[in-house]
Parts: sequence; C-alpha cells; structure tokens
Amino acid sequence: MSLVCLTDFQAHAREHLSKSTRDFIEGGADDSVTRDDNIAAFKRIRLRPRYLRDVSEVDTRTTIQGEEISAPICIAPTGFHCLVWPDGEMSTARAAQAAGICYITSTFASCSLEDIVIAAPEGLRWFQLYVHPDLQLNKQLIQRVESLGFKALVITLDTPVCGNRRHDIRNQLRRNLTLTDLQSPKKVNSIPYFQMTPISTSLCWNDLSWFQSITRLPIILKGILTKEDAELAVKHNVQGIIVSNHGGRQLDEVLASIDALTEVVAAVKGKIEVYLDGGVRTGNDVLKALALGARCIFLGRPILWGLAYKGEHGVKEVLNILTNEFHTSMALTGCRSVAEINRNLIQFSRL
Ligand code: FNR
Repeated sequence: MSLVCLTDFQAHAREHLSKSTRDFIEGGADDSVTRDDNIAAFKRIRLRPRYLRDVSEVDTRTTIQGEEISAPICIAPTGFHCLVWPDGEMSTARAAQAAGICYITSTFASCSLEDIVIAAPEGLRWFQLYVHPDLQLNKQLIQRVESLGFKALVITLDTPVCGNRRHDIRNQLRRNLTLTDLQSPKKVNSIPYFQMTPISTSLCWNDLSWFQSITRLPIILKGILTKEDAELAVKHNVQGIIVSNHGGRQLDEVLASIDALTEVVAAVKGKIEVYLDGGVRTGNDVLKALALGARCIFLGRPILWGLAYKGEHGVKEVLNILTNEFHTSMALTGCRSVAEINRNLIQFSRL
C-alpha cells in the first residue's frame, strides 16, 4: 500500500505496533475530548483563496529564533522513540537534518543526547525540559544541552502532574516500559521510566529568572493556552511560546490548540514568536495555523507514525508529504512566500 497522507501512516502504525505502544502514542487524557477536538477544530475553519497572483514559484522557507528552516513544519518533543524503531531518536534526528527543519528532543528521549547529536551533527535542534524538582540536576542537564549545540530550551508547563491516560493505566505501561521496551546497549538509555518521571510540581513564574541566569539559550514556553499566561510570558522575557495542549494528553476539555492560538497571538503583540502544536495533519492545517499567527507548527504523533513505518525514511516521508501539501495549499490560496500568509485567508465557519 502506498502511503500518501499523514493519516495513512497512522493506519499503518495502528496495524503494526503492539497494543500498548499504539495506546501510548494515540492516547489522550480522560475522555480524549481535546485530543479529538485538536483535529476537528482545524476542519471548522474555511479558507479564502486569492487567484491571479503568479504562483509559479512558491517558497516555503522561514526562520525560527533567527535560524532558517526549509518549511514551517518541525518536530515536537515526544518521548521513547525506541519503542517504535530500534535506533529511535537517532533516526528522527537524521530525518530532521535531511529535511532542514527543527527537532525538539524530549527529556524522555530513549537515546542519549550525545548519540543524537552524533547522528545528525548539522541539524537544528532544541531541547525540551521537564523541570526536575532538584534544580542542580536541571543545571547540569541544561549545561550539557548547551555544550552539545542545542539552540533553545523548551520548558513544558502543562505537566505539573501527569494527565489521566486510561489506556496506559490499563496496560500497566510503566512496568512494561521499564522491563522490556527501554532495553538499550547504553546504560544511560536504560534509566527506567519510573526514575525519569519526577517533574517539579512547584514551578512558578518567578523561577524562570533562575533558568535565565544559568543559560544563554533562548527560552520557549510550551503549553500556553490563555492570554493571561501569554502576557506573563512576555513580561518574564522569554523568547517564544508554543501554544499546545500536549496533544490532548494532559488536561482534557481545554481548547483545541488552533482555537487558543488567536488569543495568545493577540496578547503577545508581536513581541515574541508564537508556535503551535496539536492536530496538524494536512498542508491546509499548516496554512491555517500560520494565517492565525503561528510562526511554525510542530508535529507529535505523525512523526512517530513515520518512524514506526520505516525509521528515518518514514519520518522523511511524513515531512516530505506534509511540506508538499503545504506548498500546494500556498499555491492554491495565492501565497508565494510564508510572509504572504495572513489572517485574510481565514473564514471561521458556523458548521
Ligand atoms: C508527547 N508530548 C510530549 N511533550 C513534551 O513536552 N515532552 C514529551 O516528552 C512528550 N512526549 C509525548 C509522547 C507522545 C507519545 C505524544 C503523542 C506526545 C506532546 C507533544 O510534544 C505535542 O504537544 C503533541 O504530540 C502535539 O499533538 P499531535 O501532533 O500529536 O496531535
């Protein structure tokens, strides 16, 4: 079967992964209302195309934090890539490097950061931090990340405690991850899940200045959904926001990411870059996110589907298909460059 769109990769992954791995990837929190709405909300938005604008040359390139990327389509942090492909994050990093886009490596990567950098030394990479309760451990990790050439620190805010993922509880995922799936040749990779989970429950806005004092990296806050928190992010001098609800895996029944984007973009008033993840599956979705003010989007589950299909080559295919779709969406709406994508392309539907 040839896979021609991102949901084809999802169908393939559903057939080929073990039940517990499939559930881990697909799962949302509680009733998965937000996970599903992330996708449905994109489909409630209609486009207003413009014609007769010479789209013989369409340029998908843009920049994030001053670095050029080939298209505004990057890779969100997701943990445990070795669950779906033997060399896990190393394959993901190679695919991102080949595509010329940014890969945010998770705190819960199953390969060591050093191995990921060796696999794709030229790639643009950011590091996602789950803040550990022991500040000194964070400091050591951030210094390691900085010396390895990661270009930004992404702090995930929406996980002071873990959301209720019913499938993972039923599947006793933690035990399975620890005992079987995280076996790896390197000791650093085989840290059991239960030892990796401590995440600070007491993190506050005032703590951000400590992170700013120990790193020169730009700080991006992942998981903001409201204008109030967006204004605080600007006030605390961070460099970017990822509008995200963790793919619907944390607090259920929050707004779909694309529905939260507009208020966050309005609140930051262009002072910092705003990105989005959650439910992006087509080129039109990418176009809609950019039209509503996102600088780029990040993909979570689709990258894991690509990885499960054919490792590095599967991830490349996912990125390639979505970039081609986005190119088509730009041409069909009369946008020759990313800078020409704007709010006038959007019509909110009353469907
Ligand atoms: C995630 N996500 C996530 N986020 C994060 O900050 N650190 C992490 O380690 C993980 N791990 C993780 C694992 C899996 C299996 C999934 C599906 C998601 C959330 C991720 O970064 C992103 O916010 C969502 O996945 C985006 O939604 P889509 O693209 O999956 O719909």
